Amino acid sequence: MNQKRSGFGTRIGFELAAAGSAVGLGNLWGFPYKTSANGGAAYLFVYLACILLVGAVAMLAEFYIGRRSRANTVSAYKAISPGWGWLGLLVVVIPAMIMCYYLVLGGYTVKYALGSFVGNAGNYEKFAGNTGDVILHTAVFALPAAAIVIAGVRNGIEKAAKLLLPTMLVILIVISCVSLLLGEGVQEGLSFYLKPDFSKLTGAGILSAMGQAFFSLSLGCGAMITYGSYSGKTVDLVHSTVVVCLLDGLLTFLSGLAIFPALFHYAAVSGESLSALGMGGTGLMFITLPMVFQDMGLAGQIFSLLFFTMTAIAALTSIISILEVVTQFIIQRYKVARTRAVSIVVFACLALSVPVGISLGLDVNGAAGLQLFGRNLLELLDSITNTLLMPLAALGACVAVGWKLPKSERFSGFAGTMVRVVTPILIVVILVFGAVDMIVPAIEGKRVYSPDGFGILLTAVGIVILTVLAYFLILKNRDTGSNRDEARANARRDEAFQAGLRRGWQRPE
Ligand code: PFF
Repeated sequence: MNQKRSGFGTRIGFELAAAGSAVGLGNLWGFPYKTSANGGAAYLFVYLACILLVGAVAMLAEFYIGRRSRANTVSAYKAISPGWGWLGLLVVVIPAMIMCYYLVLGGYTVKYALGSFVGNAGNYEKFAGNTGDVILHTAVFALPAAAIVIAGVRNGIEKAAKLLLPTMLVILIVISCVSLLLGEGVQEGLSFYLKPDFSKLTGAGILSAMGQAFFSLSLGCGAMITYGSYSGKTVDLVHSTVVVCLLDGLLTFLSGLAIFPALFHYAAVSGESLSALGMGGTGLMFITLPMVFQDMGLAGQIFSLLFFTMTAIAALTSIISILEVVTQFIIQRYKVARTRAVSIVVFACLALSVPVGISLGLDVNGAAGLQLFGRNLLELLDSITNTLLMPLAALGACVAVGWKLPKSERFSGFAGTMVRVVTPILIVVILVFGAVDMIVPAIEGKRVYSPDGFGILLTAVGIVILTVLAYFLILKNRDTGSNRDEARANARRDEAFQAGLRRGWQRPE
C-alpha cells in the first residue's frame, strides 16, 4: 500500500515548520515588553544563551521522542515506558488550553492588521470590549489554521511554512531597516537594546528570560514531539535543532530591532516619557505601537499593516502546530478522518475561547467580571500553562530521554550531560521559582502570600492528577495508534477513489 503521504517531505520543510511553531506571539509580543521591563540588552543576552544552551537540548529531546516512535505524543511516551504515557496525554491537554487564548490573541492581530488604515490608536478598550467583534476576528484567524491542518502535514503545514516563514522574515527585515533609519532617538533605542547593563538584571529577570525561551521554542507542549514524529528517518535532528533555534533567536532579535528604535524615536519626537508609553507591559503591542504608527502618517499606516500582518502570520504558524498536536492524537486514538478531527478541535476551542475573549475585554475595560483567582481567563490559562505545566512537561521530556531510554539510545557527550543533569536542574529552578513567585509574589519588595496564586497552583496540580487518572483508567491498555494509521487510511481512501474512477470510466462502455 502507498503510505508515502504521512510526514514532512523535506528536511527544510520540517525545519521551517518547527521554526514556524517556535516563532510566534512569544517573540513579537512577549519578548519586547519583557525586555523593556527587565532592563534591555542584558535580558536579550540571557534569553539567547538560554535558547542555545538549555532550550536547544530540550528541543532535541522532544524531536527525538517523536521521531523514534513516529506516533502521537501519548504513544510516543508509552513507547518509552507504559507508565509514562500520562505525560503524553498532558502534552495534548496543554496545547488545547493554549489554543483557547492563543486564538483570541491571533484574532486581535487580524483586527489590528485590518484596522491599519482606519487607525488602531486608542481603540484597544473599544475593540476588546466588543465581544461580537472579538469572536468574529478570532474565527477569521482560526479558519486558515483549520484549513492548513486539514490539508495535512505535507500538503498543508509544510507548504504553509515554506511560504509563510520566509515572508515573515522579509517583512521583519524591512521593518527593522526602516526603524533603524528613523533618525532622532534611534541611537538611544539601540543602546538600550544592545548595550548590556547586567547590574539591571534581577534574579526574576533571569527566570523570566528562561521561561520566555521555553515558551518561544514551543517546548513542553507536544509540538516538537509531534513535528519530530513526522520528520524523515534520515534527518539529522541535531542539525535541525540548531537551525530552528537559530531562526527563532534571529527573529526574536529582529523583533527588538524593529520595535525599540521606533519606540525611542516616538518618545523623542513626541516628548512623551518612555515610562508613560508603558513599554514594559503587555499593552506594548496593542496600545503603544499603534500610537507610534499613527504618528508616522501614511507610512505608519503601511507599517502597521506590515507589522500586524507579520504578527498574524507568526501566530498562524504557531497555532497550526498546537492544533496538530491535538489533531494527531484524535486521528490516531479514535481512528477518525483528519477533517473531522480538526473540526472537532477547532469548534471546541473556538467555543472555549469566547469566555476567554469576554473575560479579557471586561478586564481591559476595568470591569472585574469573569475572573478566576484574580486574573482574567487569558492570564489564568497563560499562568497555568506557561509557568507551571510547560516547564513540567519539558522536564519530563528531558528526564525521559536522559534516564528512561535504553542505554544504547541515550545521548552521549555534551548533549548527554545537558539532557540528564544541567537542563533538568535549570527547568526545576524555573518551575520552583515560578511557583514561589505565584504563591508569595513580591509586592513592593515584600513577599506576601497570595491565595489566588495558591489557587492557580492547585488548579495545575488538579489538571495533572486528572490527566494521570484519565490515562491510567482509559488509555494505558488501549491502542493509541501511530502515524501509520493515518497513512494507511489515506492509502485506502486513495485506492477506493482510483477504483471508483476506473468504474466510472467503464460505465459508458
Ligand atoms: N512558540 C510560540 C510563541 O512563541 O508564540 C508559542 C507556542 C507555539 C507555544 C506552539 C506552544 C506551542 F505548542
